[in-house]
Amino acid sequence: MLALDILNAAPYILTKSYDWGEGVPGVELIDVAKSYGATEVIPNLNLSIDEGEFAVIVGPSGCGKSTTLRMICGLEPVTSGKIIIKDKDVTKAAPKARDIAMVFQSYALYPHMDVAGNMSFALRLAGVPKAEIKERVDHAANLLELTDYLHRKPRDLSGGQRQRVAMGRSIVRDAYCFLFDEPLSNLDAKLRSSMRTELALLHKQLARTMVYVTHDQIEAMTMADRIVIMDNGEIQQVGTPRDVYTSPNNRFVAGFIGSPSMNFLDSVITREQEQLYVQGLGFKIPIPDRLRQRAEACTSAELTVGMRPEHFSASDDSSGNLAALNLDVDVAEYIGSSQFLAARLGEQAVTATVDVGPDAEPMRSGQYYFDTNRLYLFDRKTGMAI
Ligand SMILES: Nc1ncnc2c1ncn2[C@@H]1O[C@H](COP(=O)(O)OP(=O)(O)O)[C@@H](O)[C@H]1O
Ligand SMILES: [Mg+2]
Repeated sequence: MLALDILNAAPYILTKSYDWGEGVPGVELIDVAKSYGATEVIPNLNLSIDEGEFAVIVGPSGCGKSTTLRMICGLEPVTSGKIIIKDKDVTKAAPKARDIAMVFQSYALYPHMDVAGNMSFALRLAGVPKAEIKERVDHAANLLELTDYLHRKPRDLSGGQRQRVAMGRSIVRDAYCFLFDEPLSNLDAKLRSSMRTELALLHKQLARTMVYVTHDQIEAMTMADRIVIMDNGEIQQVGTPRDVYTSPNNRFVAGFIGSPSMNFLDSVITREQEQLYVQGLGFKIPIPDRLRQRAEACTSAELTVGMRPEHFSASDDSSGNLAALNLDVDVAEYIGSSQFLAARLGEQAVTATVDVGPDAEPMRSGQYYFDTNRLYLFDRKTGMAI
């Protein structure tokens, strides 16, 4: 039997109503560790996901996302620590006792069964009455816009429709919590983006706790109530999309969230009279008040300054505290309303996205501006934000 079916074969529970409350823990991982033999994959993980929340775990391939999800649903035992779902310690509980439904990256539909058959399979296995099954399947098909396809075989469906059937199989279960492991990664870019919107909508309609895993920061940013950023089996930061974009804890988060990635330039702090500057080859930028106290207190001489490409501009008519910078532009790419610049500041490579309108000539080397309020500083050794 497929792993999915092991989960979905759980006894069918009639539609429940939950007293959802913000700040009420739905899924908790307490001091969870995981090793495969001598290989430690997750050293110590603590995470609390609220009831009804859409949490997205994001991180590079191999950082432990799937392992975390599989421990939550019980397909993988923890090496140590506890897993709590809805106030109940389920650390030792079998998958089907956890009231969880999971959608995998590689979902296999039964080719000989039509859409309705695929969606109802687990319910039939669990001996749910026929009328009940029909009601559940119709409801899920309606949510997923599959009503007109219920009697088609998977081979006669598009990739997106097949993906929706895979989701339908878990939705019919009406579980307490839904887990998704990169369910969109086999779809093309356009379909992925429309499925993102559908999933966010689905979360609103179902109002269930959802934990979604992806390596794609855009997916994470667009869908999540809260993002959990992982690297090397460790949580780097948990926060709303706005939190992690505007206040990254460290250089990893700063570089991972945002597209194109933040520029990182070697620099030091210098002082002239009362003003502090962050200075590197070819640039000297006043440190904004927001960072001044922490820059004063910073004991590390070696810093990295972080500048997001989208915070460069070609003209000085925007508000904010602008610092003038000389960029040597190597390539200017036309992307419609803005241009994407591959350039150098001093000798260090930077990318910049400048809004110049669709009719502008390709941008050249010269003076550009950066909003110093958007400056980030990191300790070069530890990578921590200061
Ligand atoms: N069954 C296993 N045996 C040994 N190592 C494993 C096993 N499953 C996963 N790993 C290792 O654990 C790490 C995390 O894997 P995984 O959770 O699948 O990462 P992600 O989903 O973030 O890409 C990887 O280094 C992977 O090689
Ligand atoms: Mg994975």
